[in-house]
Amino acid sequence: MASRGGIHALLRTLRRTSSYAAGREIRPGPACVLLRLGARALSGDAALCSRPLSGETHAELLELSHRDPDRFWGRAARDRLTWDRDFERVQDCDLQQGRIRWFVGGKLNVSVNCLDVHAARDPNRVALIWEKDEPGTEERVTYRELLEMTCRIANTLKTHGVRKGDRVAIYMPVSPVAVAAMLGCARIGAVHTVVFAGFSSDALAGRIQDAQCKVVITCNQGVRGGRLINLKATVDAAVKSCPTVKSVLVAQRTNHSVPMGELDTPLEEAMARESAECPPEVMDSEDMLFMLYTSGSTGKPKGIVHTQAGYLLYAALTHQHVFDYSAGDVFGCVADIGWITGHSYVVYGPLANGATSVLFESTPVYPDPGRYWETVQRLRINQFYTAPTAIRLLLKYEESWVKRYDRSSLKTLASVGEPINNEAWEWFYHVVGEGRCPLVDTWWQTETGGVCIAPRPAEEGAEIRPAMAMRPFYGIQPALMNEKGQILPGGGVSGALCVGQPWPGMARSIFGDHQRFVDAYFKPYPGYYFTGDGAHRTEEGYYQITGRMDDVINISGHRLGTAEVEDALDEHPDVPESAVVGVSHELKGEVPFAFVVLKESAEENQEDVLKELGQLVATKIAKYAVPDHFLVVKRLPKTRSGKIMRRILRKVAMEKADGLGDTSTLDDPAVVSEIVQAYQRYKSRTAKA
Ligand code: PRX
Repeated sequence: MASRGGIHALLRTLRRTSSYAAGREIRPGPACVLLRLGARALSGDAALCSRPLSGETHAELLELSHRDPDRFWGRAARDRLTWDRDFERVQDCDLQQGRIRWFVGGKLNVSVNCLDVHAARDPNRVALIWEKDEPGTEERVTYRELLEMTCRIANTLKTHGVRKGDRVAIYMPVSPVAVAAMLGCARIGAVHTVVFAGFSSDALAGRIQDAQCKVVITCNQGVRGGRLINLKATVDAAVKSCPTVKSVLVAQRTNHSVPMGELDTPLEEAMARESAECPPEVMDSEDMLFMLYTSGSTGKPKGIVHTQAGYLLYAALTHQHVFDYSAGDVFGCVADIGWITGHSYVVYGPLANGATSVLFESTPVYPDPGRYWETVQRLRINQFYTAPTAIRLLLKYEESWVKRYDRSSLKTLASVGEPINNEAWEWFYHVVGEGRCPLVDTWWQTETGGVCIAPRPAEEGAEIRPAMAMRPFYGIQPALMNEKGQILPGGGVSGALCVGQPWPGMARSIFGDHQRFVDAYFKPYPGYYFTGDGAHRTEEGYYQITGRMDDVINISGHRLGTAEVEDALDEHPDVPESAVVGVSHELKGEVPFAFVVLKESAEENQEDVLKELGQLVATKIAKYAVPDHFLVVKRLPKTRSGKIMRRILRKVAMEKADGLGDTSTLDDPAVVSEIVQAYQRYKSRTAKA
């Protein structure tokens, strides 16, 4: 698509080859019999972005959202979303049972809310700015154009047998076609599962199999940091073991032609054959919108299920209030659509609010470390949302890489994905934002659907503390628990972070395994949603996230279960067992550290085996999951019941072996000194190297 003249050339081709009449009026689709609830749904930008219950102060709204959540959310849903049928009940939730249902009985279509309502009012408003890998080659797509692309993809999916409820895998980096593919699924009621295009063919296959996808949408190649990535080849390898896949739709990102097999259809050609209109499917509030795989502390990645109305409302409301978005702003979230941040703050939140959303294809250092700020200057970005890992990388370079570019358009800076350290926060705030833009550290998860704790919204000008998520969003009631499962009241306490009241954006299930959903999130602290994170509450009531409490690690903001890496390592015939822990890393936040036990026969060619292990992890999961450290040990520390004590390994790897804590439950405490010695030998070897 790009090298042949980009999105506009594609759109011109599509118009020539079909019945599309350029420039004609666009009306909301037939299913969109607007109820105009609250009489504000279509009455202009200001109304679309009006605060729910406008006129009240932030403190009043916050109080109402806790005291009378049904009133708060019911009014917000009627004000902000365009419904085909009003809902009968605001919520039907039971956190004891893990039952979450919002806006019961309501009917709507998410793509109508993200496209038709804006295209009807202002068709030429820019919906997307595709900031392609090469600086200065950006392309703009209007709401009308995005609606057209979406309808064509929706019709293409229908032609390929996709029906309401079917699953579609999307394996492509961020681009207008990828966004149209997500919305095309939403248009016809199909469920998308976007798989981050850095995952290996095995990881992709595992997700496609679990979701039983009928169709995969991909592109010939990806382009990132001046490098080409052969995505289609990865899909070819994956679908060999995926009998449910009946078609692969292949978009052309570059001129490179790839072999096309029996399952494959060139996407642009297929779109050209289809109509530019597609009646939206009328969806129930609680029908599935998408699933997104994420890592847990045990087992395989889980397909987190999000549904229609509640997710969209929460994404839209947080997008506006957390980032202080106003109509006409250019919103720059540089996340990939393969992660939840891309879903909520590149696609659904901004588009529901009629914003102009930036699609960032490149890296923070391509072609040089000024890339982000040059992009901010060129696109006049107002809100800039990135991850601490990128900031830590950039602050190593001269400040002139930032200062040479005009950043006066910036209004809000934001961070997500992992705890942001003080140095990164201060640099982002003072050097990039010149101390004049609020910097919001936003805490949330794939499971929460949108931001739950962030310094904004707050009363005008309220204090922001460095490196702290601080305040709960409307309707979010955090609770900290001690080891006995008791609530820790007051300030100056640390514990397991839970949420005590349901909110519309929260996940509904794990695809195909609702019991796992209940067990993971609602069993640990009955009546509460358990986040898996620890947090500290200050005397003033502000929250600071302290990190995961389970065996999930966070590499450059990418979530990874150590069990997944262990499973990959254990597949090697020379590895009877292994244990993986996370250790701190200056740039990436955390990296995996693998302790491996090798068969005696393999000890002689250890170096080769360790190389193979690295490759194995890259093949089974992704390159980012490959452990930075491998330490061969004779045995692992285990309890008498055979459970590996990762806590001890973590301490060894973090060089805190003098504070190992209680080791009395170990089957043989002598194992600890063996491992410490092996670690010291490893350290002195790597130091010499
Ligand atoms: O540990 C927390 C960390 O990232 C986890 C969620 O990862 P994921 O589902 O991939 O979603 C990432 C983007 C929303 C959390 O359990 N995390 C996320 N944001 C922060 C954070 N840790 C500290 N501070 C944050 N702002």
